[in-house]
Amino acid sequence: MTGDGVNWIDLSGRLAAVTGGAAGIGRATALGLAAVGAEVLVLDRDEAGAQATADAIRASGGSATARVLDVTDHVAWVEIGQWISGQWGHLEILVNCAGIARFDRVDDSIVDTYRDVFAVNVDGPLWGMAMALGLMRPVGRGAIVNVSSTASLKGNPAMASYGASKAAVVHFTRSAALEVNRSGLDIRINAVMPGFTDTAMAQAVHDRFDEKLGGHAATMAVFSSGRAADPSEIADLIVYLSSDRASFISGSAIAIDRAQGA
Ligand code: NAI
Repeated sequence: MTGDGVNWIDLSGRLAAVTGGAAGIGRATALGLAAVGAEVLVLDRDEAGAQATADAIRASGGSATARVLDVTDHVAWVEIGQWISGQWGHLEILVNCAGIARFDRVDDSIVDTYRDVFAVNVDGPLWGMAMALGLMRPVGRGAIVNVSSTASLKGNPAMASYGASKAAVVHFTRSAALEVNRSGLDIRINAVMPGFTDTAMAQAVHDRFDEKLGGHAATMAVFSSGRAADPSEIADLIVYLSSDRASFISGSAIAIDRAQGA
């Protein structure tokens, strides 16, 4: 460990954009980044939720701005880049957290889910990385964290599109990290793979499995190590990866699941 240990992570002076910042892991991440000094742009299609997160940050002495963004909209991402460039002139951190989960299976019915899931979970982080790299490349510095899932690690008979979308996120993360490394830039791009985390999304998934497996206890036994993660536990890893403390970590996909996937 280097430094005095007091401000072990200090993101003062850095601008961080967080998609999905209105709720769940994205909200916890926005709060976590602000708590260590970053100015946070809370981006979400849920305007009221994004505003509530920004208000909570400001109420605790931090700095935040909320803005509506549908991450599937490439033109909107370009506008976000122009807005950041015009207002701040820099972007040090992007966290691509917005995501959706849908139940599906590999038959004709998958046409109803596949494109929606890939639009949010894959197009979103991809357009986001393109936007952020446009701002980070000229400066030569930055950190991007993409939120994947342990669902990326193996086949998923109940959520095929979701698992495949999260595997695609890991692959794009690794490719983008190699690209910037080869250009000699100090831009790090990583993915985190959470296990079950206590959010609205997880609750919806749990409810369905509770029904199928015969109760909540049975679901927990299959999907988690006795409990789901608190969103703040995932946010802590994202904040760390966004900071200079993770200076030698890039192109990695890190599971955070208390051995659920082991
Ligand atoms: P959540 O449902 O609580 O929050 C997701 C947020 O993304 C919401 O604020 C929602 O408005 C926003 N969002 C959805 N579609 C959007 C779009 N098109 N444009 C902009 N914003 C959009 O979900 P949670 O659990 O916090 O999930 C966050 C990320 O973590 C997702 O990428 C999810 O796949 C991933 N994840 C979640 C796990 C869990 O157990 N909760 C486990 C592993 C990964």
